[in-house]
Amino acid sequence: MATAPQPEILTAFEAAKGFMPVDEGLALYAAAVEAGALGLPLLEVGTYCGRSTVLVADAARAAGVTALTVDHHRGSEEQQPGWDYHDPETVDPEVGLMDTLPTFRRTLFKAGLEEHVIALVGRSPQVAAVWGGPLGFVFIDGGHTDEHATADYEGWAPHIADGGLLAIHDVFPDPKDEFTGQAPYRIYLRALASGAFTETTATGSLRVLRRTGAGI
Ligand SMILES: C[S@@+](CC[C@H](N)C(=O)[O-])C[C@H]1O[C@@H](n2cnc3c(N)ncnc32)[C@H](O)[C@@H]1O
Repeated sequence: MATAPQPEILTAFEAAKGFMPVDEGLALYAAAVEAGALGLPLLEVGTYCGRSTVLVADAARAAGVTALTVDHHRGSEEQQPGWDYHDPETVDPEVGLMDTLPTFRRTLFKAGLEEHVIALVGRSPQVAAVWGGPLGFVFIDGGHTDEHATADYEGWAPHIADGGLLAIHDVFPDPKDEFTGQAPYRIYLRALASGAFTETTATGSLRVLRRTGAGI
């Protein structure tokens, strides 16, 4: 199975608003394709406007499985007005809050991937609490505070099947490189220390780990 996306998928990824550079996107895609071979759903935490979702969704399509993507669509701390990562176009003028859901839906439509994705609109820990099944792939790119990153890890990592993959974005071992805090780095360290996960690839700030043992 191809481990690089078709040109039109890469174009859709690059055209979408978001925060993932191409080299990390290619690594994410390769991991999602590999995990798809388990025949289980692929889940992303942190949809935003669908940039990374395009890649996870295309990998799901190739594997004949479903992609799930979780977001409350109100933005993370650093994306709120007045912060470095704020995009005024993401604010719903009627309610005065961020709402990235419409842009996400346009991204997915333009990429021709709507039917391969279930969008779960809500808070990640709340969704995780009612999720019952195994997952082949979990990609954590939600809130970057310790509270949120830890909840994402504790909520979703237990669902990763044996041999499944855990990808974590914005892992910055050196504090001078980080932009949004080191909470993703801390959950990455925790996953390794648990003995349940073994690192497979590191590309930029993206780390991919495989479940090689029980627990989290
Ligand atoms: C860094 S962005 C995701 C970027 C996206 N993966 C991309 O490639 O462009 C983080 C997203 O996580 C969402 N988020 C933050 N905390 C969350 C939580 N507790 N539950 C659900 N979504 C959350 C935010 O709304 C935001 O859209």
